[in-house]
Amino acid sequence: MIFLNLGHQPLANNYTNKKELSKKKKYILTVQYQKKNNLISIKKKFKSKIMFNNKYPYRSSLSKTMRKNFKDLAKNLINKFHPKKILEIGCNDGVFLKNFNSQVTVGVEPCKNIADLIKLKKINVHKNYWDLKLANKIKNKHGKFDLIYSANTITHIKDLDIVFRSINQVLSEEGILVIEDPSLLECIKNVSYDQFYNEHIYVFSLISLQKILKKHKLEIFKVENLNVHGGSNRYYIKKSMNKKIRINHSVKQNKIKELKYKLDKFITYRKFGKNVKESKRKLKKLILDIKNKKKSIIGYGATAKSVTVMNYCGFKSDEINYFVDTTPEKKNKYLPGTNIIVKKYKINSLKNIDYVYLGAWNFKNEILNKERKYIKKGLKFITHVPYPRII
Ligand code: TMP
Repeated sequence: MIFLNLGHQPLANNYTNKKELSKKKKYILTVQYQKKNNLISIKKKFKSKIMFNNKYPYRSSLSKTMRKNFKDLAKNLINKFHPKKILEIGCNDGVFLKNFNSQVTVGVEPCKNIADLIKLKKINVHKNYWDLKLANKIKNKHGKFDLIYSANTITHIKDLDIVFRSINQVLSEEGILVIEDPSLLECIKNVSYDQFYNEHIYVFSLISLQKILKKHKLEIFKVENLNVHGGSNRYYIKKSMNKKIRINHSVKQNKIKELKYKLDKFITYRKFGKNVKESKRKLKKLILDIKNKKKSIIGYGATAKSVTVMNYCGFKSDEINYFVDTTPEKKNKYLPGTNIIVKKYKINSLKNIDYVYLGAWNFKNEILNKERKYIKKGLKFITHVPYPRII
């Protein structure tokens, strides 16, 4: 059951330096609800190979917030679970795994250009997609793991059945699986429709994930609500047969919250669809009013999320003159699907700028803090989350 149509969209990380190419090749992005599992997914699902290749432009370690989060989490997991063997699915540039000194530290990262950034010998990197074949290969080489971690990766893989069957292959009987992904509840509450793009095939709720895991004899025993990526959940999961671990009260609490918000009812998503249309109308008005006053607006943080917003709202370089971003791979390329160029972020990028659209709104605090000098001088930030406004 479709509840949202975000119009013609490009692949969100398909950066090119050719303007004509940037505007070509779009598909219609719609989002649907599946009653059986209460699962939200985009309708057109691309194969991993098309999205994650040796030109992937996303590096986890570029944000201070993320570096600190991964470091703190690694410390906590070491203290709590003392893992001897750790596996990370979607390890990006090794920002999380580098904090471990376990006997065996294995990372899976199919984007070769990103995996190649990992220079630490202690990390065994497998440059492949996560599937049964790879799980078997890893098991044969390293045995089973007592800790498996995966952040913002599982929701990017089309076949969830294969994902969890493969995990079951390599997770020891008393092993812990920790996954974190954007929270559907936060997405719906914040009208952050830009969580939807081709890579985010699913946005999980606790209730949907519980149903999917049950089929694989896996069980969530703890949930942590996080601020990262615009509101995420960290799920601690065990094999159902492992009765040594008690179910934490956070599972029930989060379930109650989701049911109270009616995440198990289609009407909730229909209402969200209406809210998204209203958000678009208001953001367009806000931006056009500023442009009518002949003020400059640039974008800050060329996120995959801003690709959804720019394409859905139809913004071009007349409205958002250009974006600034710290990622070297995005420099001097067009924001996918648009004629808006991404420039390299410099310390004085915001000098003489009137307004900044916050593409990386999920790093609002980090960015506003970094740019406080300009804000004091009158620079204004615009966001659309939870509703379009000047901050
Ligand atoms: P993400 O929302 O998918 O994590 O992407 C964040 C993007 O924002 C990434 O391209 C890097 C960029 N960025 C900056 O350019 N400057 C910053 O200060 C931060 C935090 C992120």
